[in-house]
Amino acid sequence: MFDTMTMTKAVGAVCGSLLVFLLAGWAATSLYTVGGHGEGYGEEVAQAYVIETGSEEPAAAAEEGPDFATLLASADAAAGEAVFKKCGSCHKLDGSDGVGPHLNGIVGRMHAAAAGYSYSEANLALAGEPWTPEAINAFIEDPKGYMPGTKMSFAGLPKAVDRANLIAFLATTK
Ligand code: HEC
Repeated sequence: MFDTMTMTKAVGAVCGSLLVFLLAGWAATSLYTVGGHGEGYGEEVAQAYVIETGSEEPAAAAEEGPDFATLLASADAAAGEAVFKKCGSCHKLDGSDGVGPHLNGIVGRMHAAAAGYSYSEANLALAGEPWTPEAINAFIEDPKGYMPGTKMSFAGLPKAVDRANLIAFLATTK
């Protein structure tokens, strides 16, 4: 009843359907399986996404370069005298005040201590605290950051070496 041709067609149809199911199954597996390793029997299943907590990162290392104490210990006062030109338009070193108070003898002097100079409230609030090298360093790096409300309109000296040299120079003035 079945001739060879019909048999061949039937077998062909069955094989074709099997092939389609096989391909569909394979496609579905690769679509819905994370990591592409089946159900992951004993294998580590890849995570779909990773939440960065940053906990493995150590805290950002401190600023590059030697610290202020080290810079000050090896500071060059002569180089600092040249840096003082940036301050000289407002500050004098002969004991007289200009736009800013005189700075001779400033290292170790109390805040807002130049008699007769009209300081900001912000600086007067710190009277009684000495201008240590560290305090001057912090102030001239970022005047408004160190002393919000200061009337010193100076952007700041970004280079730590310049600040250390300048403070070493100021320490030589009386
Ligand atoms: C544009 C003018 C100007 C420049 C430039 C300037 N200053 Fe001043 N400075 C002032 C004024 C004004 C004050 C008073 C601040 C206050 O009372 O808030 C002051 C205050 C200070 C004080 C505190 C003095 C005290 O008696 O309490 C120090 C220290 C100081 N300046 C250092 C410097 C240094 C160092 C430089 C250079 C890197 C510099 N300043 C550049 C205007 C200036």
